[in-house]
Amino acid sequence: MAFVANIHALARHGLVRGSVASLRQGGAAVLRGGLEARGTKCVGQHPDRRAASLFSVFGRDWFTGVGRNLPSKVEMTAGCFKPISSIMSRKAYSTQAAPKGEKDRRFVSVSRDDSAGQYRVEFSSGPVGVYPYVWMRDNCRCPDCYHPSSWQRASSITDLDPDVVPSSEELVDEGSVLRVVWPDQHSSDFQAAWLNRQRFSESEKDKVGSPELQTFGGELNGRIPTFDFRRLLEEDKELYNWLDVLNVKGLALVNGAPIRQGALEELAEKVAYTKTTNYGKTFQVFSKQEASNLAFTPKALLLHIDLPYYNYTPGIQMLHCIEQTSDASGGASQFVDGLQVAEQVRQEFPEIYQTLRTVEVDFRDKGSDYYVYHLKQRRPIIQYNKHGEFMCVNFNDHVRAPYMSLPVEKVKEMYKAMKVFEEVMYRPGNLVEQKLGAGEIATFSNGRVLHGRSSFIVTKAGRRHLEGAFMDWDEAHSRMRILRETLFGDEPL
Ligand code: OGA
Ligand code: ZN
Ligand code: ZN
Repeated sequence: MAFVANIHALARHGLVRGSVASLRQGGAAVLRGGLEARGTKCVGQHPDRRAASLFSVFGRDWFTGVGRNLPSKVEMTAGCFKPISSIMSRKAYSTQAAPKGEKDRRFVSVSRDDSAGQYRVEFSSGPVGVYPYVWMRDNCRCPDCYHPSSWQRASSITDLDPDVVPSSEELVDEGSVLRVVWPDQHSSDFQAAWLNRQRFSESEKDKVGSPELQTFGGELNGRIPTFDFRRLLEEDKELYNWLDVLNVKGLALVNGAPIRQGALEELAEKVAYTKTTNYGKTFQVFSKQEASNLAFTPKALLLHIDLPYYNYTPGIQMLHCIEQTSDASGGASQFVDGLQVAEQVRQEFPEIYQTLRTVEVDFRDKGSDYYVYHLKQRRPIIQYNKHGEFMCVNFNDHVRAPYMSLPVEKVKEMYKAMKVFEEVMYRPGNLVEQKLGAGEIATFSNGRVLHGRSSFIVTKAGRRHLEGAFMDWDEAHSRMRILRETLFGDEPL
């Protein structure tokens, strides 16, 4: 059985003396058995997952407990400590007034359009919203229809009638809640602030998942945005800023990392975890016998993205310099923004651009490293996602396959197109060069930013050693959304 209590209800009972806002900004809460969480920062990081998820619910002003895991004691921000178990009830969740800010939003009018099967809703601020009845029934937030601690739908579409028409509706709680009663007497309460965020609109994009990308070129030489390793581990704002730069620009440096293996996993854990590939959880780039990758030799690496032979090519790459070569003229890294290259090709060579967007190239990798592998994939060199947004450039001559899944008469055209892409890519104005020093990490968006290195000589004085690791954008975007809740007050859903 689930119980839900509104923080504002607790406040009205005199049980919260501080503000909910102060709790969000890092106040402490003792949940149960002495477990402690601070602000909403504990979300997903607290050793007791259930306690952390209970606490995370504070972020949306609800206190939720499930079954016997109900905390017996909840204490909130300095000076407002009281037990609340006495007033937790199923009813409390919908009967309280909202505080200031976004939650202050109220309904101004709710009108029915039974012929279209929808409500037309005017809010105290923001545009009018239109909500189909079936959608309203499907998205009832009561604890039977929507499981509170998992934030997941518990109702089944089997029970949903697409032609459902509500029996009645009323505004309660001084206009902050719309209560809809359905023909089977089930009642659904919708908070104005929540309903407003769910407006059906093509233009409302996910700020994190679909950012406004900024291209870069040679102007970043000597000025790659740089972050401090320690601060990334310790400060949420710094962590967010780094991920934001990676998301928008695609390239950032991290300095001050410990000069040993393992630093990348520490950093990745602040986001989520590293993505294991055929080269392992992390991989060691130094000159090896029987190298399983050209990177594990002293040879130059042409500009490339890593692992284009995966269906799910990892989205973020990190290369941590543990030891740089003593060969003064070798071992430098190069970076080029594939989005900028794609744009230049589009403007200057429209036909070639069409070929690169539509004709697929085969990639493959075969060998033995973390396991014995034979990976294959084919994809166009310039790739857009299903929404028509730029996704990645798939360019890696080292792992381009000899076989070509093309009609033979297309082969020459494809070579010509790839040559143009490569010439544009290597334009001096597009190149950013950076020789990493020990303790520096190059971090970049793997599908977007191409990377390479100059050859080096292996000397007796020491070797060149980088540790590499991958992460995925799903995890990085997820972390950014979570960070935005505490940093910018984004509503969780
Ligand atoms: C790699 C790679 C670059 C370098 O390992 O994928 O591109 O500087 N390494 O060694
Ligand atoms: Zn319900
Ligand atoms: Zn590489």
